[in-house]
Amino acid sequence: MNILILGSGGREHAFTYKLSQSKKLDTIFVAPGNAGTAEIATNVAINPTDFDAVKKVVLDNNITMVVVGPEAPLVEGVHDFFLADDALKSIPVIGPKKDGALLEGSKDFSKQFMEKHNIPTAKYKSFTQKTLTEGYAFLETLQPPFVLKADGLAAGKGVLILDNIDEAKAELKEMLTNQKFGAASATVVIEEFLKGIELSVFVLTDGKSYKVLPSAKDYKRIGEGDTGLNTGGMGAISPVPFADNAFLTKVEERIIKPTVDGLQKDGIDYRGFIFIGLMNVAGDPFVIEYNVRMGDPETEVVLPRIASDLLELFEGVANQNLNEKSFEVIAQTATTVMLVSGGYPEAYEKGKQISGVEFVEDSIVFHAGTKLENDTVVTNGGRVMAITSFGDTIQEALQKSYKNIDKISFEKMNFRKDIGFDLQ
Ligand code: AMP
Ligand code: GLY
Repeated sequence: MNILILGSGGREHAFTYKLSQSKKLDTIFVAPGNAGTAEIATNVAINPTDFDAVKKVVLDNNITMVVVGPEAPLVEGVHDFFLADDALKSIPVIGPKKDGALLEGSKDFSKQFMEKHNIPTAKYKSFTQKTLTEGYAFLETLQPPFVLKADGLAAGKGVLILDNIDEAKAELKEMLTNQKFGAASATVVIEEFLKGIELSVFVLTDGKSYKVLPSAKDYKRIGEGDTGLNTGGMGAISPVPFADNAFLTKVEERIIKPTVDGLQKDGIDYRGFIFIGLMNVAGDPFVIEYNVRMGDPETEVVLPRIASDLLELFEGVANQNLNEKSFEVIAQTATTVMLVSGGYPEAYEKGKQISGVEFVEDSIVFHAGTKLENDTVVTNGGRVMAITSFGDTIQEALQKSYKNIDKISFEKMNFRKDIGFDLQ
């Protein structure tokens, strides 16, 4: 098989790493990739949402499967583009079509889907500029804190959680009438606040059957003790200790099965990953959000724990015989710690030389925001690299990650020293 992976982050390096282990793999291309993927694959410098450029790469390199990392190409319809093109339609795309991608592309759609299929989630109502007054009235019926969500994609920034009702009303107005998040906030979902501890569960489905991948917990805030601004994710742990069999059985029965069945009932042929963001509310799982891709940095702990051949699983997705594929998980714990540029998630500098990676032992280095400049690896983003390790306990795995991080340096490097602090 000749694979093309779309994307450039730690998630895509982890896909490249895992797929490279497959006996079925011939060549692997990453568009646009990073300095890490360049070591084990061929990078092609195109934008993954430029579908004509993607087509050219696919045809020029005899690509036989496309794996989509981020949500943007899915929401913009890369899978539909392939199916509508005679030269591309027989090439499987791992990732849903536009209709399935709405689970992430529209919060209003995903809430309606959950309501229709009786999937536990926070109570909600959606509002537009025309129904702003009704929105104010709905806020009055809720207890603080108030949760406001822009309907569309807003680069992870479209969710506001506010303690004060006047502030909530003012923000609702900002979103609806002043387009605080552009077109993404033309519709706003207001929902009940769920109190609990968050985790994520990942599902790979061929539209009929599914495999439940390892659970993971990520650490989104920049500061230790979960303080400060939200980031894409500063680290992750898998498995999640409190997600025991009893809890995961509830997740499967109440959420995963009705989600996969619901997609089928609604005529949505979904082939790819479903990332289910959950809140554990006193032992019961509630869906906070669906994403139609894997998480980053969750992928950097989830994929290394899969013992089975990922390419075989992808073939199962493409041929709709995923139920026939074996699926084994490594029992050990995996942890990852993200090294970020100083200043991230606000303004930061790029182009800093990264040194010491060659001294890393017994950890996997997944590059995220890096690139090669005159044969040197330099920083090229806010999240720079994720250091993944295995251990029999969370502590043991983290110790390895942190010991190796001591050997790596770049100007203004920052990272959280307390990943997993709430789980030990
Ligand atoms: P989302 O983009 O929907 O994942 O929301 C971003 C973050 O806001 C989540 O990871 C949660 O920490 C928080 N959040 C979202 N919805 C709720 C809710 N209903 N109750 C409590 N926290 C929430
Ligand atoms: N780490 C969260 C995400 O990928 O959305």
